[in-house]
Amino acid sequence: MTQDDWFRRYQDLQQYVGWTDDDARNVKSLAGCLDPHLNPLVDDFYAEIERHPAARKVITGGLEQIARLKGSLVRWVRELLSGPYDAGYVERRLRVGRRHVEIGLDQVYTNVALSRLRSGLVAALGGVWPGDRAGLVIAIQSLNKLLDLDLALIEDAYQAEYVARQQRVERMAAIGQVGGGVAHELRNPLNVIKTSVYFLLNARTPTPEKRAEHLQRIERHVLLADGVITALSDFARMPVPDLKPIAVRRLVEEAVEANPPLDTIRVIYDWPADLPPVLADANQLRIVFANLIRNAREAMPQGGTLTLAGRGVDRRVEVTVADTGVGIPAEHLLRIMEPLYTTKARGLGLGLALSRAILEKNMSSLHVTSQPGAGTTFTVRLNADGGME
Ligand code: HEM
Repeated sequence: MTQDDWFRRYQDLQQYVGWTDDDARNVKSLAGCLDPHLNPLVDDFYAEIERHPAARKVITGGLEQIARLKGSLVRWVRELLSGPYDAGYVERRLRVGRRHVEIGLDQVYTNVALSRLRSGLVAALGGVWPGDRAGLVIAIQSLNKLLDLDLALIEDAYQAEYVARQQRVERMAAIGQVGGGVAHELRNPLNVIKTSVYFLLNARTPTPEKRAEHLQRIERHVLLADGVITALSDFARMPVPDLKPIAVRRLVEEAVEANPPLDTIRVIYDWPADLPPVLADANQLRIVFANLIRNAREAMPQGGTLTLAGRGVDRRVEVTVADTGVGIPAEHLLRIMEPLYTTKARGLGLGLALSRAILEKNMSSLHVTSQPGAGTTFTVRLNADGGME
């Protein structure tokens, strides 16, 4: 928002509380009699902060800073009482809110500090008010409107600055997450390509069949890597996934091929022949299954059974990836889909977070159950083609 926008907002808020020129005059008439009380009130303001560690901790510059802050606060009250309530006034109020975010002050302390200051001003006024009681009540009403407006501005600026900072942090985290995800997803195909290139460069007398086989492997994995990059960069730009009917069993088989389990792992497909196609983005879904299969493989270093099952449930298709591996303790189970949360010695902890994010974008979901020592089951719930009208 520009300075003009903020000023218009302030004028709108003034109308809301019914602020008039009379209020401005009433408040101005208080300035003289309140002025001798400002220093004690400001001393009390900072003495109270001292008693609250969560507020005190933002004052890092000791007595010198407190002396400066007292000066700022006295100027703030003087300007509050005298005005003029123009765009510059509004800008200085907004600066207070922004500055409080910078120093990490919790906004609630501004609210309670203002409440204390308000009580102090009203009490002081009661003692020195030269006119009658009715006049005092009116003057206090004007002062209250003005303090409320100032607090609204400070809070508004605080909120805007806080949200802007938060968004910057989240954007940086998202960039990191997607970048890490790309690395994670590309390592496998690149390793396969590396092995085949090594063979082609170093095999003494490769048969034409072997050469062709390796070249085809390279081509397949280049395409796979390309698909991963496309899916992830699309994901980073947050597009609507390209939803098309997919034979999900074929996709799962491809994921197993690309991430072959150890020989000691038995792979079982439990899949009805009449399972309907699902509606999803094939490239994005491929990443999900690759992750789940790799996880299952890593959970069974001593071997076991990997069961890949498909079920039609109402208008949805459920695919379960179940292993008979080490299992996940309950305290980790709630967190394993968070970005960068990992229980493995290797790996960035992005696979499941990415999978869940992908599925949510595909209007699908990921669930997990596990029994330590017995195994883990991931359930992917997808929309059947024609199941979403
Ligand atoms: C009625 C409530 C408050 C008002 C009106 C107020 C006013 C101000 C003003 C005018 C500034 C200077 C802003 C600028 O740089 O232009 C400021 C900064 C600051 N305020 Fe507040 N404040 C309030 C509450 C608090 C509270 C409760 C704390 C608790 C510790 C606090 C701590 C600070 C600190 C540490 C700074 C930075 C000062 C510096 O630059 O050294 N404020 N505040």
